[in-house]
Parts: sequence; structure tokens; C-alpha cells
Amino acid sequence: MTTTVVHTGSAVATQAVAARLAALVGAGDLIVLCGDLGAGKTTFTQGFGEALGVTSPVTSPTFTLANRYEGALIVNHLDVYRLAHIAEVEDLGLPELVDDRSVTLIEWGDAIVGALSGGYLEVRIRLGDGTDDRTLEFRAVGTEWRDREAALSGLADGGPGDAGGAPC
Ligand SMILES: Nc1ncnc2c1ncn2[C@@H]1O[C@H](COP(=O)(O)OP(=O)(O)OP(=O)(O)O)[C@@H](O)[C@H]1O
Ligand SMILES: [Mg+2]
Repeated sequence: MTTTVVHTGSAVATQAVAARLAALVGAGDLIVLCGDLGAGKTTFTQGFGEALGVTSPVTSPTFTLANRYEGALIVNHLDVYRLAHIAEVEDLGLPELVDDRSVTLIEWGDAIVGALSGGYLEVRIRLGDGTDDRTLEFRAVGTEWRDREAALSGLADGGPGDAGGAPC
């Protein structure tokens, strides 16, 4: 399984990588954002949304659970950190959100990937040594991203790797 690894040294750099990813997405895509508190999941989504023409500010959906933005595609932005039970995930109506007009990004999606029926792109953000250092790892799960693996590896600063690791 190929994992594409990108290092960034600032929030703006992470947003620029997200913008490049936005050029690869289509309607119906699901992106699961993983990483510790303050890793940069919302920051990533801001760069992603901006690249898709979202003009309203992208803010953390921690308390709203789900925000919806209009751009070239509709951007659904979810944060399921506070969801303790899989039943609550079902209440979110994820299958209805992941429709043919929208792309959906889910922060803290680790807990729910087992309940997903389709594929998704995992974006794992790891803290680095310096305050602003981050490592972004992109890993496609399922068939939806198979044709785009070469394009995904084009996001890499060191070329495609094989970091392996547990699913998100
Ligand atoms: N290289 C970087 N990439 C992303 N964010 C960075 C980077 N360097 C510094 N930051 C800062 O780290 C913070 C990341 O906060 P953000 O809200 O995006 O994290 P989060 O993963 O969504 O957290 P939470 O789990 O609380 O939702 C921001 O203040 C951002 O400016
Ligand atoms: Mg966040």
C-alpha cells in the first residue's frame, strides 16, 4: 500500500498542500483527517476549501459536528471527536452527505472508518520536532482513489513511500 508523505513547516504550507489535493477530488469523495489535537486538521480543511472557491471562513466544527460550505463543490466538514458511539455517527447521516455534489472531510474519523462502506482517503497529520513542523501522510483506502495514486504521489516532497501502519 502506498503512502505519500509530505513535510510542511508552516500552516500556510499545509494549506498549500491541501489546495493541491483539492485539485484531485471529485464529487462523492470522502477524506478522513487524523492527527492529535492541534495537528492541523482544520487548518488543512481551510486550504482545501479555499482552493475549491469557498469564500466563507472555514471554522472548527467541534461543537456543530458538521458544517457545509458552497464552493465549486459543496464541502462538508465534520468533526466527530465528541461522538462516543457509533449510533451517533449513523445519526449524522453520512451516506446522505457523501452525495454527488459534495466532498466530505471528517476530523477524528478514526472512530468511524469501520462503519464506512465505501473507500476514502486518509490524511494523517503528525507533529514534528519544531513547533510548526508537520508530516502529512496520504493513504488511499478502497477503490475510489486507485486511479489517482500517481497524482497523489505527486504531492510528495520525497516521492512515494511505503510507510504502512494501522488504518486510521
Ligand atoms: N505546519 C503546520 N500545519 C498546520 N498547522 C500548523 C502548522 N504549523 C503551525 N500550525 C498551527 O497549528 C494549529 C493547528 O490547529 P487546527 O485547529 O488546524 O488543528 P486540529 O488538528 O484541527 O485540532 P483539533 O483536533 O482541536 O480540531 C494552528 O494554530 C496552525 O496555525
Ligand atoms: Mg480541528
